[in-house]
Amino acid sequence: MYNTAELIDKLKTETILSRDEYLHLIKNRGVIRERAAELAGSVRDGIYGKSIYIRGLIEFTNYCRNNCYYCGIRAGNDKADRYRLTPEEIIGCSDSGYELGFRTFVLQGGEDPYYSDDILSRVVRDIKGRHPDCAVTLSVGEKSYESYRKLRNAGADRYLLRHETVNREHYGMLHPDNMSWDNRMQCLRNLKELGFQTGAGFMVGSPGQTEEDLADELLFLKELKPEMVGIGPFIPHQDTPFGKETAGSAELTLFLLSLIRLTLPDVLLPATTALGTIDPMGREKGILSGANVLMPNLSPVNVRGKYLLYDNKICTGEEAAQCIECLKGRVRKIGYEIVTDRGDHKDCG
Ligand code: 5AD
Ligand code: FES
Repeated sequence: MYNTAELIDKLKTETILSRDEYLHLIKNRGVIRERAAELAGSVRDGIYGKSIYIRGLIEFTNYCRNNCYYCGIRAGNDKADRYRLTPEEIIGCSDSGYELGFRTFVLQGGEDPYYSDDILSRVVRDIKGRHPDCAVTLSVGEKSYESYRKLRNAGADRYLLRHETVNREHYGMLHPDNMSWDNRMQCLRNLKELGFQTGAGFMVGSPGQTEEDLADELLFLKELKPEMVGIGPFIPHQDTPFGKETAGSAELTLFLLSLIRLTLPDVLLPATTALGTIDPMGREKGILSGANVLMPNLSPVNVRGKYLLYDNKICTGEEAAQCIECLKGRVRKIGYEIVTDRGDHKDCG
């Protein structure tokens, strides 16, 4: 049998464990989660100091052609109140974000064919032209290699595409048959090849996920070496097939943030909105568990309540970009500092 405390300490020097060792830690997290958070925090501080990077999140369309069973903006949800921002509106968000101190803009949306490669490329070019000291991150789902190439050529620096689960069968439980785990993985490899700083990630506690799957997630991340990893608890949305499923826990999400930090010491790791939604102190706890990125909402106020991937999403209070001063105060309170910086991965930029 393993000595739990020794295992977590081993991760500090070796940055990888075996599947059984990860599984043991996940199963026995109750006794070492504080130690794990402490170690992860010191590893993060050793690399990034007390700096917390911020990203202005622009949710520019909630139209989506996909039908993921968990997601509130799935095509099949006819109760969703749909909206699209015009290119001018998106650019306007980046301008106001710049004034607020943001140096990374994340353009996130459903898979909405309305935004052709040309339209999106133009938006990326415009933002980069107006704010050459800023990074642009895209989060617009699965596309062809050629589309990704065009967007990269337009100047996009980073791309977020969660793989959702490392387990192919599990992927099949979360998505309809027309969606493919293999294609998702291929997209991630293509993005890396094209030189995007690439973000993978998964939901914690999605229906059917096992502790074994989570151990596999850590091994997979270690192998893929994404520059960014986004994880957050699964939270049911009432108008989806998973509306009656149980939410993932903040506690397990925090522990996984610590394990991810210890496994990929340099990784850019956000404390996500979903974590802040299931626990009002979730994002602070995320930082204290090893996260180093926050992504406040920069979308126009009139659409903010419509990008609802899950129920009760926080979207009007202090997490808003306009409330950056409150956020700075909250982060300062726990001993960290929000910085005005592109916040590239250590190996890039
Ligand atoms: N709960 C938590 N996260 C969700 N996402 C989508 N739906 C939910 C939900 N119900 C996450 C997915 C997706 C990202 C944009 O949001 O992981 O990749
Ligand atoms: Fe797939 Fe929203 S429909 S994540």
